[in-house]
Formats: sequence, C-alpha cells, structure tokens
Amino acid sequence: MSFENLSVVTRGGIHTVTVKRPAKLNALNGQTLQELYAAIIDASGDDKVRVIVITGAGDKAFVAGADIGEIRSQSPVEARRFSQFGQNLMSMIQSLDKPVIAAINGYALGGGMELALACHLRVASRNARLGLPEIKLGIMPGFGGTQRLVRLVGSTIALELALGGEPISAERAYELGLVNRVVEAGELEEAVQNLAAPLTKAAPEAVRAILQATLQGADIPLEAGLALETARFALCCATEDMQEGTGAFLEKRAPQFKGR
Ligand code: COA
Repeated sequence: MSFENLSVVTRGGIHTVTVKRPAKLNALNGQTLQELYAAIIDASGDDKVRVIVITGAGDKAFVAGADIGEIRSQSPVEARRFSQFGQNLMSMIQSLDKPVIAAINGYALGGGMELALACHLRVASRNARLGLPEIKLGIMPGFGGTQRLVRLVGSTIALELALGGEPISAERAYELGLVNRVVEAGELEEAVQNLAAPLTKAAPEAVRAILQATLQGADIPLEAGLALETARFALCCATEDMQEGTGAFLEKRAPQFKGR
C-alpha cells in the first residue's frame, strides 16, 4: 500500500506510520486522515505487526492540527462529516487490539493532540508542545479531544487546556500523566523502540485482553468492568501461551509465546 502523505515501514514487528506533510507541519487534511485510516486498518490485520507507532516527519512537528485551510472552506455539513471521520479514526485507533504508541517529536496541537490521546502510550521529545488551540480559531476540538482529555486528566486541566488554548511543555504533560516518557529529541526513536520491543514478544491474547479490559472497562460501571476482566482472564488461561508463560517461569527460562 502506498500513500501520498504517509510513510509506513515494518521492522521487527513494529509498524511505524509517519505523517508526512512537513511543509504544513504534518497538518491533517482530509486525504491524510483517509490515508491514516487505511494504513492503520491494514497494519491491524497483519499478523507480523505487533505494535504500531505513529509519528510525524521532520524534527518540528508530530502533527500541528487539522488542516486549518480545509476547515475554513467547509460547509457545516462537510464540517460534521470531517469531525465524524476524524472521531472514527481516533476511536478505531483506541480500540485496536495491538498497542499503538505516539512518538511525539514536536508540536502535537489540535487534531495532533487528539491523535496522540487516542494512542495507548505516548513518548514525547523534550521540545514537544501539546495543546488544544482551536479556541483561538473560533472553533473547538472535533476529533474526540474534549472527551478523551477529560477522561485522562479530569475537567480542571481539560478545561484549562481547551479554554486557554495555550500549549504545554513535554515536562508539564508528563507531570499531568499525559505522556509516559519525556526524552531528548535525539533519543526519541530509541525510547519508543525500548517501549515497543518487549510488546512484540508478549503473548498477543494477554496484550489484547489488557487493552480491551482497561479501555472498555473505564467507560462502564465497575461491576461490569470486573465481569469483563474475569471473562478475559479466563480466556487468557485457555491459551497455549498461558501454559508457556507459567511453565517458563517455573522452569526459570524465558517464555517463547506463539500467539496460540
Ligand atoms: N493547518 C494548516 N497549515 C498549518 C497548520 C495547520 N494546523 N499548522 C501549521 N501550518 C502551516 C503554516 O500555515 C505554514 O504554512 P506556510 O509556510 O504555507 O505559510 C507552515 O505550516 C509552517 O507553519 P508556521 O506557522 O510558519 O510555523 P511556526 O514555527 O511559526 O509556528 C505553530 C508553528 C505550530 C505554532 C503554528 O504553525 C500554529 O499555530 N499552527 C496552528 C496550530 C493549530 O491551531 N492547530 C489546531 C488546528 S484545528
């Protein structure tokens, strides 16, 4: 599959999708959103892909937002479609059964912040700036930002970011629990690899179960979430990988999971 505004590469089970519109700081126009959807769906169905990494081309931006020129030219009906498509993309990413890591190598603003929020793990370079500046354009986040940010950090911080529109530093994002790691710009790729590599060797059913129980469980009552956890736990225990993992522990050796 080839794309105009993305590059994709799979190495060692890690599939990296790079948004490539550097002249526009990787802003998401309609075509790039469509390409991201196709690239990620394609990777999600590929057994060789164990982890997906999303990043931006160049050293300045992850994604500087939805494409402002395109937003400006939309009718209200087109704007609704644009928002719904963006939301569908972000929801699809969040609900994948493979871990998705955002490698935030610079500005993650508006739709870029929303893309990062939909990923399961986030690593930021020290020069990254994250924010929801839509209010300064007379609009609001439309790719799930108001919903995911409040769930991650609560309404006090979510409203400060969305109403103020001012981006925050990578360090502040780390303090708030918005990113998992902050590293020097030159060390971002290595830090992401270090996070991703063990996941490429993990038992796929355990990875799937943890992602789904954690994320689906967060939006349902506790009792229902606990029932989901029990069901997924039992399913993990029905796998050959459970026999391998527990056997390897008892035999004091490294497990070799096979995804069965
Ligand atoms: N949509 C469309 N184009 C964008 C863009 C976006 N979200 N973000 C940046 N660009 C374009 C700029 O228009 C400029 O294009 P040009 O060279 O053709 O004029 C190019 O990318 C470089 O951006 P520039 O503003 O010159 O870089 P900068 O270093 O001075 O500022 C930012 C960087 C990120 C602070 C600034 O580009 C910005 O505020 N971008 C918009 C962020 C935003 O509001 N996102 C939410 C959108 S809903």
